[in-house]
Amino acid sequence: MSAKPKNNAEDNADKPSEIGLRKGLTSYGDKGFSLFLRKAFIKGAGYTNSALDRPVIGIINTGSAYNPCHGNMPQLLEAVKRGVMLAGGLPMEFPTISIHESFAAPTSMYLRNLMSMDTEEMLRAQPMDAVVMIGGCDKTVPAQMMGAASAGLPAIQLITGSMLTGSHRSERVGACTDCRRYWGKFRAGEIDAIEKDEVNDQLVASVGTCSVMGTASTMACISEALGMTVPGGATPPAVTADRIRVAEETGTCAVQMAKTGLTIDKILTADAFENAIRVLLAIGGSTNGLVHLAAIAGRMGLEIDLEALDKMGNETPVLVDLKPSGDHYMENFHDAGGMTTLLRELKPLLKLNALTVTGKTLGEEIDAAPPSFKQDVVRKINNPIYPRGSIAVLHGNLAPGGAIIKQSAADEKLMEHEGRAVVFENAADLANRIDSPDLDVTSEDILVLKNIGPKGAPGMPEAGYIPIPMKLARAGVKDIVRISDGRMSGTAFGTIVLHVTPESAIGGPLAHVHNGDRIRLSVKNREISLLISDAELAKRIQENPITSPTAERGYKKLFLDTVTQADQGVDFDFLRAVKMVGKTPQA
Ligand code: FES
Repeated sequence: MSAKPKNNAEDNADKPSEIGLRKGLTSYGDKGFSLFLRKAFIKGAGYTNSALDRPVIGIINTGSAYNPCHGNMPQLLEAVKRGVMLAGGLPMEFPTISIHESFAAPTSMYLRNLMSMDTEEMLRAQPMDAVVMIGGCDKTVPAQMMGAASAGLPAIQLITGSMLTGSHRSERVGACTDCRRYWGKFRAGEIDAIEKDEVNDQLVASVGTCSVMGTASTMACISEALGMTVPGGATPPAVTADRIRVAEETGTCAVQMAKTGLTIDKILTADAFENAIRVLLAIGGSTNGLVHLAAIAGRMGLEIDLEALDKMGNETPVLVDLKPSGDHYMENFHDAGGMTTLLRELKPLLKLNALTVTGKTLGEEIDAAPPSFKQDVVRKINNPIYPRGSIAVLHGNLAPGGAIIKQSAADEKLMEHEGRAVVFENAADLANRIDSPDLDVTSEDILVLKNIGPKGAPGMPEAGYIPIPMKLARAGVKDIVRISDGRMSGTAFGTIVLHVTPESAIGGPLAHVHNGDRIRLSVKNREISLLISDAELAKRIQENPITSPTAERGYKKLFLDTVTQADQGVDFDFLRAVKMVGKTPQA
């Protein structure tokens, strides 16, 4: 028998408070009619009045056949809904854009801001009291947090979880550090095409995100450090029961957040960002994490202070022994207690009063966590795998707005280096010449790649991991200093200077580097310098004025007209907070 309609006094939409289905009514000029119509339509799906009276929890479904990193979405959705209903809420699933690293041209970063706009506007447009955002692949989690930060609702992040590792001829392998390693072996002629295809079957052994400390794992850890996930939400692999339990807990927590009005601005504070930066440095996280943190913080009116971050690096050793900085994979990190183990070790360095989605502080959650145990993935603070933070900030006439290097993944011998510039004008020029036997290059040179910054490519692709020229690779060269205005995958390694700001496409000094110029990299002195006089640089700028790229129409026009540089997170200028209110970290 169908449920009888209740004669609800609150059907008069002028009276009830703005909760649940009554929020954000469509404009027909008559609120009562708007609610009447909304309920009529939703009842077409078989809902009862009793269900529609509950707090509404939106759940963002980013499942897509193009996104195997989100391949466990059906199981996660089911568990989140269970958690929501057990806590007395009404789950309402809805889709947004989904982005996968390998299925987004020209680069996933080009679409991150679009996904953030989709997320923000659907959170604003649809009635919900809290939202569960399910993301995992690199750009999805930052896009969701950027959108939620601007929308201002109670919001909680659910991570899809990492993939399992595979096995190739008895060697454990996982995406994507091993993808690069095996491709490097193939380029150097160390393995043949048959073995290359064989290992290709094993690198991604299940659905889920990359199994090393790439951008996805970095953003998962950062989300937990920010207080945006339930405790323990970062590390369970995608296909485990632990991951499903986290999903159920997330649904339950979202209902609590809706009831208590725990909006995102109470969580994403300057202290929370400081904790996230601390964790980014201690996990040997992806340099992309910094760009994404700058974008999320920018939505909250906070600038990332790169000088303060660099100082934090001096007192924050890398503790997590994961590839590419170390040896293990995400599933080992989870077995070692995950973020709880790391946060306990970092406790003296953290802002413990920062609030989390549970309504408790980070300090309270660390104290409430299960006891520690012997493990070999998270090092003690006095026995780190790298003595300083993973990321160093560089300055000099080549990067007046700063550049970064992931020092924990670089070759110690190359971190103080002066060499001759071998210049590639753009990604196409690189592709055409890098493997030419005629390329004039030695292992002492410095490879310079222009025009892969936010506007240059566009979208600041992960092309900063410039391949070792074929003739050097075949001669056994494993690393060489490389410089660009682009990004690098968190799964990559090498002595690679990234995010040179301002980028070459808008006339940054990088645009005026010539073949044969001398360049000096000194990580010790935080220096990246083009060894020409100021007068010579000024002459080159005058002789070769740069015109910023533009587009005639569409999203590309919006992107090129409004995208900011790396230090502002490559966000669109009009999406950042109207007023900037402070800086983080406060060193
Ligand atoms: Fe999705 Fe690596 S490709 S996380």
